[in-house]
Amino acid sequence: MGCKVLIGTQWGDEGKAKLIDFYSQDMDIVARYQGGPNAGHTVVVNGKKYIFHLLPSGMLHKDTICVIGNGVVLDPEQLIAEITEVEKDGYDVRNRLKISDSAHLIIPYHRAIDGAMEDASDKKIGTTKKGIGPCYSDKCLRVGIRVGDILDENYLEARLKEALFGKNLQLKKIFLRPEFDLHGIKEMLAEFKKQIEGMVINTQYYLHQEFDKGKMILLEGAQGTALDIDHGTYPFVTSSNPTIGGALMGTGLNAFCIDEIIGITKAYVTRVGEGPFPTEDKGEYGELLRKRGVEFGSTTGRPRRCGWFDIELLKHAKRINGLSSIALTKLDVLTGIPKIKVATGYKINGKKIDYFPSSRIDLVEPIYEELEGWTEEIADCNSFKKLPKKAKKYVEFLEEHTGLKASIISVGPDRGCTIVR
Ligand code: GDP
Ligand code: IMO
Ligand code: MG
Repeated sequence: MGCKVLIGTQWGDEGKAKLIDFYSQDMDIVARYQGGPNAGHTVVVNGKKYIFHLLPSGMLHKDTICVIGNGVVLDPEQLIAEITEVEKDGYDVRNRLKISDSAHLIIPYHRAIDGAMEDASDKKIGTTKKGIGPCYSDKCLRVGIRVGDILDENYLEARLKEALFGKNLQLKKIFLRPEFDLHGIKEMLAEFKKQIEGMVINTQYYLHQEFDKGKMILLEGAQGTALDIDHGTYPFVTSSNPTIGGALMGTGLNAFCIDEIIGITKAYVTRVGEGPFPTEDKGEYGELLRKRGVEFGSTTGRPRRCGWFDIELLKHAKRINGLSSIALTKLDVLTGIPKIKVATGYKINGKKIDYFPSSRIDLVEPIYEELEGWTEEIADCNSFKKLPKKAKKYVEFLEEHTGLKASIISVGPDRGCTIVR
């Protein structure tokens, strides 16, 4: 058996964590492969809600090993807060969590620079201000601090000194913000080392060893295809690759290890932050979707922009990721909408195009079709057969237009509200 990868097909918040938790019941290992605390992954078990930012969403299954892969950017204070929170509820985290020694650390100056850049810009990205972009930039500039670096005090000090010089110059001279002091950062990292030392390993080697033993491995994506730095709506994207390439890079597994790639797809579309969104509905129905879907960011609390299903976007995600199937989430939210719009194609300057453009998506004009809605609440439906006729038709319409089967349909936030086909 190979690995399963779960990837968001839109602009994030598709309900990935609910499905990762659902699939985790059959998994030995769940590994996060990219992003950082910009992610907000909600898992609801028996009515109790957990929002994971860094811990993999398989954490609530007591026999599942969770891995933070090398592609993740990790905020030490956030990770400790999350571990403490989950442990309070009686879950053993420390014996089940493995952290890559080559994952990069978000140092407080990364958050400060992220915030300062956003505040100073008149063309904001609308980042989460969690330090994601500055941390990945340092990785590429080769001045980043990695988890493994904190195990050797002298080496860490030398790396930090080198990085801090440039950061303080930038903060002080360009952004007129306070500087950071080496001692404070060293102390914070020394405390972090005490807490996590026993969990730090070479996760690339570990994952290959476990794969060779035939262990079931699930790779957890954060964000989504349209936020991918290469394949998304640049520059309004995140600074990593949530798509399939990122899953390999961020774990060290190779293409031959993967046998299923599932696209997590909301039954409508949302986006949080700035940037183009062709099917956004700024009127009554956008508002209704936000209300019924409780569409507020899990990380920042910002209202999510809402709109209609976008076939061209899903076809783009299918091509880039090689999706085997989709898990269609939040179908229950559409209950009560009399006519449901679906964008089946795009036009630019009046001319039909059959792809998701790699730039200037703001010029796209969606071509809509309307489907009849249904009025019945569907959270209790536990099989496809039991769904209202028009809900089934809606799902089949999306399947026909994309050539992707909805192998799972999610009809509520709880683990139990999941239809397997
Ligand atoms: P993620 O980032 O992709 O893991 O998604 P988030 O956790 O940020 O946002 C998804 C939200 O929708 C969370 O509040 C989930 O509890 C909720 N959710 C997930 N699946 C369903 C569903 O099928 N129906 C409803 N009504 N809510 C869902
Ligand atoms: P999950 O994993 C939705 C968005 C931000 C912003 C852009 C860049 O929960 O789906 P960043 O802080 O990453 O530099 O911000 O990306 N963004 C997300 N939107 N879900 C997420 O994660 C997101 N992570 C980042 O709102 O527009
Ligand atoms: Mg989220």
